Amino acid sequence: MSLTKNLVRLSGVLSLAVTAQAQNNTYTLQDSYDATNFFDNFGFFEGPDPTAGFVQYVDAATANSTGLAGYANNGVYLGVDYQTANPTAGRASVRLTSAKSYTHGLIIADIAHQPAATCGSWPAFWTFGPSWPHSGEIDIIEGVNLQTNSSITLHTAAGCSFSQDSFATGDCGAPGDGTQGCGALTQNTQDFGTGFNEIGGGVYALQWTSDAIKVFFFPRTGTIPADIAAGNPDPSNWGTPTASFSGGSCDIDANFMNHNIVFDTTFCGVWAGQVWGADPVCSAKAPTCQEYVANNPADFQDSYWLINYVKVFGETGSSKRGIAKRFNA
Ligand SMILES: *[C@@H]1O[C@H](CO)[C@@H](O)[C@H](O)[C@H]1NC(C)=O
Ligand SMILES: *[C@@H]1O[C@H](CO)[C@@H](O)[C@H](O)[C@H]1NC(C)=O
Ligand SMILES: *[C@@H]1O[C@H](CO)[C@@H](O)[C@H](O)[C@H]1NC(C)=O
Repeated sequence: MSLTKNLVRLSGVLSLAVTAQAQNNTYTLQDSYDATNFFDNFGFFEGPDPTAGFVQYVDAATANSTGLAGYANNGVYLGVDYQTANPTAGRASVRLTSAKSYTHGLIIADIAHQPAATCGSWPAFWTFGPSWPHSGEIDIIEGVNLQTNSSITLHTAAGCSFSQDSFATGDCGAPGDGTQGCGALTQNTQDFGTGFNEIGGGVYALQWTSDAIKVFFFPRTGTIPADIAAGNPDPSNWGTPTASFSGGSCDIDANFMNHNIVFDTTFCGVWAGQVWGADPVCSAKAPTCQEYVANNPADFQDSYWLINYVKVFGETGSSKRGIAKRFNA
């Protein structure tokens, strides 16, 4: 027997042993992004905002030299320009996209701070795939203006509806092009914006399988599952998710694939700007969203993300498929 063969055999045995030991651990750490490597693995989006915001997304060098993005407080700081009045090309901000894309799995984000509820702002932590909306979009944290609760929303092409869902039923391809999507506001003011920041944030988890898309939120002041801290997350122990999309006509695997992870903060545009007039508090401050955002830089000092980590776990489990994958890897 050759040495190579011995090594192969040995690694096969080790792999089996690990799988057998962690029988209930259906997830294995794939990628970990934090203050040691985030900007090596997330790229700065430099184009015009696809959501038509009054924003200028800057590149890595500009973000660094102007202090809009960097490592701070052992985390990843993603902020906006809160000093310049009347920026002609839109308020400077950043939009970061993961280089890697994922299908299925468990994405866990420990976030210390997110953009506070502020008239004109529209922050989001979300994932999406190519040829929008054909590979789907999952909005995990999103909201506009003075919103107090997160909007958890899915967007797809026509033909994906969820039915047996306590969180939100509906057509994720609505109104035919996916621009509206399906979802709802959470019933928790600690999971978004100002309420989130007041408790030092918390941990969000997206669990994506062939059968369901679920979002969990654990406030910092509550109970963050020990298996998360231990790096061995097991969603089957986490209780009822904040949002769960399942049942109905949606073939999840046909509608959601190859998602990149994104954090951004934009202003106005097709959501925050469009509903400006319907917000009595914001619309009393300025006739348009754009005027408000242009003229009140100091109001956006708290429009920043501070991310402790994002970890992506792949499905493994004790299935034969999981083991086969390990042998072939
Ligand atoms: C695996 O999960 C089952 C059902 O939840 C439980 O009864 C069993 O004790 C768990 N096994 C281990 C090794 O944790
Ligand atoms: C910009 O980059 C330099 C060199 O890598 C680093 O020391 C500095 O902290 C960065 N600035 C910010 C705001 O992160
Ligand atoms: C936001 O969450 C709070 C607290 O649970 C709840 O009372 C309120 O109805 C929610 N707001 C909306 C607009 O759903």
